[in-house]
Amino acid sequence: MQTTVVDHPLVAHKLTSLRDVHTGSPTFRQLADELTTLLGYEATRTVSVEPRQVQTPVGTADGVRLALPVPLIVPILRAGIGMLDALARLLPEADIGFVGLVRDEETLVASTYATRLPGDLTGRAAFVLDPMLATGGSLETAITMLLDRGAASVTAVCLLAAPEGLARLDRAFPADTASVHVVTACVDARLTNKGYIVPGLGDAGDRLFGVI
Ligand code: PRP
Ligand code: URA
Repeated sequence: MQTTVVDHPLVAHKLTSLRDVHTGSPTFRQLADELTTLLGYEATRTVSVEPRQVQTPVGTADGVRLALPVPLIVPILRAGIGMLDALARLLPEADIGFVGLVRDEETLVASTYATRLPGDLTGRAAFVLDPMLATGGSLETAITMLLDRGAASVTAVCLLAAPEGLARLDRAFPADTASVHVVTACVDARLTNKGYIVPGLGDAGDRLFGVI
């Protein structure tokens, strides 16, 4: 598993506002969208393209277009929905699949309540969206579903990651056995015994969409 921490002053600036306990849902949603655009630029760096020529008003330009098969974007319900628009704007040709996962608040084990994915992902690049990589249980489940369906690579875009979650994914997906990449704005200090990232930003789903 490869990890990229995007080191950019705008990312740090927006992430700081996102963390702020005084930031309300409308601004939180806007910041999550903007951060996903910035992280998405790095996450899509290795997307497959093929040569294409176009005529400009003054000549012929050698360029590229996205190669087939088109990528798949997978937001993890619920909080990953807050990142979907931004990545779909960057990759409008991509298909979109859905995985619903929820953590048990006591055991911290993630269980699956919805799966809408193509059955065969052979040769396709998948981009998983989940703002919080905490214990890593949710992402391990989602990435395993995509690799089991034949995805050629899985890139997880996370606004924040905990060292414990990154270590778990590193163990589950060793670099020599799977093409798995995590792109994040920051690796925070640790998890609380309730599985919250410290200093983190609290419950991402609640801050985006309200307390259930
Ligand atoms: C949160 C978050 C991640 C998950 C991360 O989801 O959005 O999906 O926890 O935790 P983990 O790395 O320990 O698995 P939650 O289960 O609270 O559901 P929600 O998105 O519906 O709020
Ligand atoms: N899920 C969240 O929304 N926040 C955390 O800090 C950990 C998991």
